[in-house]
Amino acid sequence: MNHTPLIAILPGDGIGPEVTAEARRVLDALNLGLTFEDAPVGGAAYRVAGHPLPPDTLALAKRADAILFGAVGDPAFDGLERNLRPEQAILGLRRELALFANLRPAKIFPGLEDASALKPEIARAIDLMIIRELTGDVYFGEKGRRVTRKGLREGYDQMRYDEVEVARIARVGFETAMRRRRKLVSVDKANVLETSQLWRDVVNEVARDFPQVELAHMYVDNAAMQLVRAPGAFDTIVTGNLFGDILSDQASMCVGSIGMLPSASLDENGKGLYEPIHGSAPDIAGQGKANPCAAILSAAMMLRHSLGMAAAADRIDAAVSAALALGKRTADLGGDCSTQEMGDAVLAGL
Ligand code: IPM
Ligand code: MG
Repeated sequence: MNHTPLIAILPGDGIGPEVTAEARRVLDALNLGLTFEDAPVGGAAYRVAGHPLPPDTLALAKRADAILFGAVGDPAFDGLERNLRPEQAILGLRRELALFANLRPAKIFPGLEDASALKPEIARAIDLMIIRELTGDVYFGEKGRRVTRKGLREGYDQMRYDEVEVARIARVGFETAMRRRRKLVSVDKANVLETSQLWRDVVNEVARDFPQVELAHMYVDNAAMQLVRAPGAFDTIVTGNLFGDILSDQASMCVGSIGMLPSASLDENGKGLYEPIHGSAPDIAGQGKANPCAAILSAAMMLRHSLGMAAAADRIDAAVSAALALGKRTADLGGDCSTQEMGDAVLAGL
């Protein structure tokens, strides 16, 4: 990059501001010559600007080299019409910036096996990557309310993918698998859904370009079962938007805590939005209880995937491991560190 990289910081709602503040401290400590600009998003933006994704916030996100995102969601706004709810901010960013590829790694940190909902010996083997398609599926299909001929209220959300959308995310899946253990599982529901049958056909077509990758197809219900039965058997998973949403939350609990998992959402050129996969957690917001590790690890993913700073990213990952190895834990992991103390521990490990 031949200019000072501009990072948009969108802290959002609930615990979002607390955890992004820790990620920002870690980035500052590394002296990477980054510039930062903050903007409100989600419920926080609705409060000040009347919209969860105000034009200025969207413009900053477009201008920035990368986006560090906290979380959106605020029960105070659950009664608003759908297009004004906080969640629309992240959906709008994904759509407007064409962030179609969502990378959600799930790896057990040594020492956290006991925090996993699984038996430690099963949890220990987890090292997988979920590649979730992010701009299609029921999330963005036609949706609405109508009244049936019998006079009943009916809601509908159309599931759809075209072959280009499937092929480009399949390609990300295969390329990711090539850099890992070369095993790819494509998750669908082809026994019931036509969208999934097309998905499966297209994934098989793309597979011809990646003969070194061992490809398997799995129905989503079976995948949910295998994820708790033998998660260590998975390497790379590629799946659609809705199934990926569900399976990535499930994978997070297998790893110990949703508070540990970062994510990257990338466009075709590698520009990305980086966010912890946990939500805004309004129940613990403002209390200094949130685990900042997912946000800090998201910052590391940003350095690696969008800014070409892999060495600095490795340093952050190692510092998180070091803090955990010293027994530093927030409440979600059974410890008593505050958000800031956990951030301090990571800083000390840099
Ligand atoms: C996620 C979240 C979002 C999603 C919500 C907040 C819209 O659950 O990033 O997984 O469903 O994609
Ligand atoms: Mg989710």
